[in-house]
Order: sequence, then structure tokens, then C-alpha cells
Amino acid sequence: MSLSSTKKTVLAFSRVTPEMIERLQQDFNVIAPNPKLGDINEQFNQALPHAHGLIGVGRKLGRQQLENATQLEVVSSVSVGYDNYDVDYFNERGIMLTNTPDVLTESTADLGFALIMSSARRVAELDAWTKAGQWQASVPSALFGCDVHGKTLGIVGLGNIGAAVARRGRLGFNMPILYSGNSRKTDLEHELGAQYRSLDQLLAEADFVCLVVPLSEKTRHLIGPRELKLMKPSAILVNISRGPVVDEAALVHALQHGTIRGAGLDVYEKEPLSDSPLFQLKNAVTLPHIGSATHETRDAMAQRALANLRSALLGERPQDLVNPQVFKG
Ligand code: DGY
Repeated sequence: MSLSSTKKTVLAFSRVTPEMIERLQQDFNVIAPNPKLGDINEQFNQALPHAHGLIGVGRKLGRQQLENATQLEVVSSVSVGYDNYDVDYFNERGIMLTNTPDVLTESTADLGFALIMSSARRVAELDAWTKAGQWQASVPSALFGCDVHGKTLGIVGLGNIGAAVARRGRLGFNMPILYSGNSRKTDLEHELGAQYRSLDQLLAEADFVCLVVPLSEKTRHLIGPRELKLMKPSAILVNISRGPVVDEAALVHALQHGTIRGAGLDVYEKEPLSDSPLFQLKNAVTLPHIGSATHETRDAMAQRALANLRSALLGERPQDLVNPQVFKG
């Protein structure tokens, strides 16, 4: 590894395109682990002691992983969620953490709505049915779906993405909106007629329950067997937040036994999802964590993450600093 000693070094570990690397190379040494050159984790660990900045997503980073990263100043995550990072440890070490909020709000809300529509109208299931050549007469009522318009939409976590899902429901589909969370959102109550409920009340009343909370120790397994039983048997659960917010085994059980009608899932307790009982369930729509996966949005996230990293390494305050207390400015 030959690194210029006049430049800081960036370790670009995932979701970093060749264009991003080219831009980074204008100011920094860049190390980008490459599967063609051997084990990615080994390359990552070898590069860590040289790195002043990390950029990427999808790696758990805390005390154990960063012990050898003695020069590390910043981790720029190409994501809005930062549950993969041990923020307390970052604070202890004075390492800046940045994320990419705002730019993925609308795309993630679109995907949430796609899951609502797909689960209710059985889009994925009936696509497979049609392609399997099963459409020989008019579709039997056993394959009918349920309406979305006019039904009650419950949003668990009315932050930016939750509000964007709520707007789609209220303005596009005439859905009454319920929400639960840590605080009242009076602006959205006025804008959308949204009504605050406790989580239990929301679960009991909503036809669609959409989870949009960040993952924390408070929200891990927020939805378990008890909560699933509170939902209507006709209700659909949509998760576009993080997999561990739902007790997946309990969800599978609820879907198998008709405790709820269906689920639309983008996230899972263990990703990538493989060999899961969810694969056998026609009433579960399973997507591969694609909330922000559009060309436009991923480009915007990459730009934002690059800008954050650059600012941090050049001594400026990054726009999206998760832990401002460590900024030495
Ligand atoms: C995020 O940014 O947190 C989304 O889940 C995409 O990774």
C-alpha cells in the first residue's frame, strides 16, 4: 500500500461507486477493498490503522472493530439509519459520525406505499400466479385483495419518512391517519388531521400499521406476539424501518395463523434474508431492503456522504453530524 503522507487516507468500504472514489482521490489517499483481490474483511482490517475517514454502509462499527483505527476522525455513513454504529464509543474516542438524512425521505415513503399497495392488492402473489399460467378463468374471490383508499393508516414513528407516508395516505388515498411516538406533532395534526394514539390503541384501530421508527434498545422487538394480537385480523403490517423492530418469529407465527392478514417487509432481523419461513408465506411481501434504492436517491446519498466526509477531514463542521459534541472546529 503506497500512501502519500501529505494527504489523509479514506477507507471506502461499501456502496462507494468508482465516480465517488475518483472524487475522493482529488483530496485524499483512497483504499477501497476489492473482492477480486481477496477477502474483503481482511483488506478492511489491514487498512484500518491508516484510515482518517471511513465511508460506506452496512458494517457494525464499535470498540471491537475500531480498536486499530487509531487515526480515525470520521465515519461517513451512506444511510440515514445509524444503528450499526456504537455512538457512545465514537463519542469516547472523539470520532465524528455523519449520515444522509432528507435525501431519501420521499423514495423510502414511496416504497412504504408500494408495500401497502402490494400487500393489500396481492400484487406480488398474483404476478407470480399469472406468470405460472394459472389465469384460466376469471379470478376467484379467494384471490381478491382488500381496499387501501379510505382505510385507516397507523404510522408508528411520525418523523420525516413517517410524515411522507402519511401524506401519501391522506392526500392520495383519503386515509384517516393515526400516529404514535415519543412526541405530539401538532403541525401534522393540522396539516393531515393526524390523530395521536398510544401504540396499543393504534394497533387496535389501524387497518395498515407502518413502522418507521429508528432502531434503538427501546424499539427492538417493539412489535412482538402481544402487539400482533392487538392488531385486527384484517390488518396489514408494513416495516420500512429496521428488521429487529419486529420479533420476526412472532410475525411468522401471526401470518401463518391468520392473527393478521399480511405483511409488507423491506427489512429483517438478519440481512440478507435467506432460507426464511417468510418465503413460504403468500401473505408476506418480501423486498431486499430497497427503501432508498433508486438511482436518483442513491446518487443523492452518495453526494451527501462525500460532502460530509470531505468537510470533516478538512476541519469544517459536516452538514449531517450525528454527534456534534465531538466536533472540535
Ligand atoms: C438507510 O439509509 O438507513 C436506509 O435503510 C438505506 O440503507
